[in-house]
Amino acid sequence: MSKSTKIWDLPTRIFHIALALLVMGAFITVNLGDDWMKLHGQIGLSILALLSFRLVWGVFGGYWSRFSSFPLHPKKVMNHLRDKSRHSINYPGHNPLGSLSTLVMLLAFTLQALTGLCSDDEVLFSGPLTTYLTSSQVEFATYYHSEIGQPLILILIGLHVLAILLYKFVFKQNLVTPMITGFKEDLQDCEASQDNFGSRLLGLFIFLMILSLLFYFLPI
Ligand code: HEM
Ligand code: HEM
Repeated sequence: MSKSTKIWDLPTRIFHIALALLVMGAFITVNLGDDWMKLHGQIGLSILALLSFRLVWGVFGGYWSRFSSFPLHPKKVMNHLRDKSRHSINYPGHNPLGSLSTLVMLLAFTLQALTGLCSDDEVLFSGPLTTYLTSSQVEFATYYHSEIGQPLILILIGLHVLAILLYKFVFKQNLVTPMITGFKEDLQDCEASQDNFGSRLLGLFIFLMILSLLFYFLPI
C-alpha cells in the first residue's frame, strides 16, 4: 500500500488558489475599462495581503511551507541542475528549482502590488500612496507596474504552468494533486507538515489581521 504524507497544509493550498484567481482578476479588471480600476486596486491590495500572509506562513506554517525547508543552498541548486536523474527524484516539498521559482514569483508579485499602490492611470484612478510621492516617483512606479512588472508576471506564470505540465507529461510527476489534496505519495520517510484545526485557525487569523490592516491604512 502506498504511503501518503501531508506536505502542503490547507492555508498554503488556499493561498495558492486565491493568488492564482486574484491575479487573473487583476488582469481581467484592468482590461474592462476605467470604471473597474477601483476593483483592480482592491484585488491588488488583497493580493498584497496574501503575499504578506505567505511571508509569515514561511516562518510559522507547516514544515514544508517554511522557507527554511526550501532546498535553496547554491550547492544544492547546482547539484540538482547537474544531476541527470533530477526529474525522477520525488522531493517532499518544492525541489531546488521550484523553491527558487517560488521565491522569484513571490517577489515579482509583491513588487507589482507595491508599485500598483504608487501608480496613477491619469484618468480617474490612482493608488493610495501616490499622494505621498513626487510626480516623477509616481511616473516611475507606473512605468514599472505597466511596462516591466506586467510582462514579467506573465512570463513567470507562463513558465510556471509550463514547468508543471513538463513534470506531469515528460517526467511523469504529478505536482498538481498534492497542491489540491495536500498529500504526496510514496515519499521516503520524511517529516509531515502540521495541518490541524488550530494551525488552520492561526493561518486564517494571521491573514484576516493583515487584510484588515492593509484595507484600514490604505483604503481604496
Ligand atoms: C499583484 C497585483 C497587481 C497586478 C497583477 C496588477 C496588474 C496590472 C496590469 C496588468 C495593469 C495594466 C498595465 C497596462 O496595460 O499598461 C495594471 C495597471 C494599473 N494598476 Fe495594477 N496590478 C496589481 C496591483 C495593483 C494595485 C494594488 C494598485 C493600486 C491600488 C494598482 C493600480 C494600477 C493602476 C493605477 C494602473 C494603471 C497604470 C497605467 O495607466 O499605466 N494595481 N495593473
Ligand atoms: C496565476 C496563476 C498562478 C500563480 C500566480 C501561481 C503561483 C504559485 C506559487 C507562488 C507557488 C508556490 C507555492 C508556495 O509555496 O507558496 C505555486 C506552486 C504551485 N503551483 Fe501555481 N500558480 C498559478 C497557477 C497554477 C496552475 C494553473 C497550476 C496547475 C496547473 C499550478 C500548480 C502549482 C503547483 C503544482 C505548485 C507546487 C509546485 C511544486 O510542487 O514545487 N499553479 N504556484
